[in-house]
Amino acid sequence: MDILVIGAGGREHAICWSLAKSPKAGTVYCAPGNAGIGEVSELVPIQVNEFDKLAAFAVEKQVGLVVVGPDDPLADGIVDVFEAKQIPVFGPRKNAAHIEGSKTFMKDLLKKYNIPTAAYEKFDNYEQALTYLQSQPVPIVIKADGLAAGKGVTVAFTRDEAESALKSIMVDKVFGESGSQVVIEEFLEGQEMSILSFVDGEMVRPMAAAQDHKQVYDGDKGPNTGGMGTYSPLPHIADSIIEEAIERIIKPTAKAMVAEGRPFRGVLFAGLMIAPDGKPKTIEFNARFGDPETQVVLPRLKSDLLDIFLAAVNGTLDQAEIEWSDEAAVCVVLASGGYPASYPKGLPIHGLEEARAAGALVFHAGTARGSNGELVTNGGRVLGVVGLGKTIADARDKAYESAGHIAFEGKHQRTDIAAKALV
Ligand code: AMP
Ligand code: GLY
Repeated sequence: MDILVIGAGGREHAICWSLAKSPKAGTVYCAPGNAGIGEVSELVPIQVNEFDKLAAFAVEKQVGLVVVGPDDPLADGIVDVFEAKQIPVFGPRKNAAHIEGSKTFMKDLLKKYNIPTAAYEKFDNYEQALTYLQSQPVPIVIKADGLAAGKGVTVAFTRDEAESALKSIMVDKVFGESGSQVVIEEFLEGQEMSILSFVDGEMVRPMAAAQDHKQVYDGDKGPNTGGMGTYSPLPHIADSIIEEAIERIIKPTAKAMVAEGRPFRGVLFAGLMIAPDGKPKTIEFNARFGDPETQVVLPRLKSDLLDIFLAAVNGTLDQAEIEWSDEAAVCVVLASGGYPASYPKGLPIHGLEEARAAGALVFHAGTARGSNGELVTNGGRVLGVVGLGKTIADARDKAYESAGHIAFEGKHQRTDIAAKALV
């Protein structure tokens, strides 16, 4: 069976790599992909927002399955376009992807169904939002309603920070229409955890839990990024907490979506905060695989990813074999100097073969081929170097040793990925 994967990041590289291992997989096409994805897939020069071209390609090649990686096309209804052409597609329809596309929708849903999340108020009027904000203690969290390339959330530790975040969202409209509503919510203390699940309606099949490192510098300092590194499993988090998150948050949310007439099919990604008392609460839901969570979760999947996707699409997810290896995985992201603000592109990358020879998986995020075919940087997050090992410590050593072989001008990485799991 030929497959079309849509997207261009490290997440899509991990998906294509995993699909290519399936004995049932024929050609894995990826649109538009990147230099690394081109090693396991056939790249298709169509952008993720060109729905009609993508659908025409899928029809022409008679692909048996389409898999959508990123949030924007999902929120814009790409799955509905494929479904209208009877092309099997793994991902949520527009009305279900709304759980990521609108934070006010997500918060109202959780409130209605009594699912644990931070207390909040929502506003579409700046003056009223400001008055409310001034009545609340800091720290406090300000969120633009819509998608904002991962930058729409400010955790404000001072009033000035909170007020300037509100102003830039609602008055200066730095995120455009995404900021016409805001959520102002209670600050949650604790440890974050990501649980991704394969979901079809009420059927929820959780994946191995992972933890991301959102801030750009060591010690969780500096601005938020898409994610600077991940690890899985989480040996320092009790299974009972993970179980509670699945039973009290993820399954009830899938059920709520069905009850609302928005059945979710795809990967439902719960971003959770575990309070110091061990109770998990919802921070966010995403309607897709996480990046870079996918880069540590899929290498631990012992079962056939293509079979799981097909089971979800065919309504047999309850019967799919989904087994995880006991191995640990740690992903260290190598970013361009300057990221998440502006950064250069087109810088030569060296040492990839040495990194792979040292035992790591290297997933490409922002890479391209230069005019002479050489590998160059082409994004903020450039590569994800994944070490596997018996323990988190082993996997971490492998990831850092391998990452050390890779060089490009301005390369930045955190040195404390997975450190929390070692104590
Ligand atoms: P989001 O885009 O909703 O994932 O938020 C980005 C990051 O902001 C999260 O990963 C958390 O680190 C942080 N965050 C969001 N909401 C809260 C909250 N209520 N309390 C504390 N931190 C939060
Ligand atoms: N790593 C967080 C995300 O994919 O949203």
